[in-house]
Amino acid sequence: MSKQRAKLVVGNWKMHGRLAENATLLQAVAQGAGELPADVRVGVCVPCPYLGQTQSLLEGSKVVWGVQDVSAFTHGAYTGEVAAQMAVDFAATLAIVGHSERRAYHRESSELVAVKTQRALEVGLTPIVCVGETLEEREAGSTEQVVGAQLDEVLAKLSAEDAARIVVAYEPVWAIGTGKSATSDEAQAVHAFLRSRLAAKGAAVADVPVLYGGSVKPENAEELFREPDIDGGLIGGASLKDQDFLAICRAAAATSVAG
Ligand code: PGA
Repeated sequence: MSKQRAKLVVGNWKMHGRLAENATLLQAVAQGAGELPADVRVGVCVPCPYLGQTQSLLEGSKVVWGVQDVSAFTHGAYTGEVAAQMAVDFAATLAIVGHSERRAYHRESSELVAVKTQRALEVGLTPIVCVGETLEEREAGSTEQVVGAQLDEVLAKLSAEDAARIVVAYEPVWAIGTGKSATSDEAQAVHAFLRSRLAAKGAAVADVPVLYGGSVKPENAEELFREPDIDGGLIGGASLKDQDFLAICRAAAATSVAG
């Protein structure tokens, strides 16, 4: 029943970067990604002030780029917010929405995440919708209930056609930035569950990429990416080191259709 889907690896720089180091990193990633097979897609989600720099250094390369959040509003008196359309002005194609750091530190609800997903889709961005449980929730046996509710809230607001344009990222909160990744079996089990929820929305939705995020490193990427329902990764810390990020991209290539 499992079917091979193209792999996608996306870096999430979070609030890191400076002009000089970004230039070195982006150039190295663009060059290294150029050697990957066509069915491995690579992206980076950068802090908004660096979108112009990212565009000028990545345009014409294999690597696409995007933002780490979008406003729930299209425009207006919302000081500090960045509209999805503004990212599109810099040729961005990706927008992370509902990252657990935004849910935790900015109190973003799944309902708000659903609205942000709509704002991204409206302007042609691919939203990367993040879901994930805390350690307490996992230990209480409620992982599926938590991630299922987070995903369903988004799917409920979308047509099947729009839902087929999203990417989902499963990022267990206890694995993010901790060095403690989910095992490939643990991740696969949740990915298969998320896939079944997506399939319930329509046949085309069943095949949206479901990425794993949370302490993905060169050492564990290939094992994770070999799982049938893990279509790539959302990479935090390791995306700031060109050699580590490219090694993770090569792990995706080794497990891709052509790999
Ligand atoms: P990490 O972060 O790879 O540093 O664990 C992943 C993420 O938060 O997207």
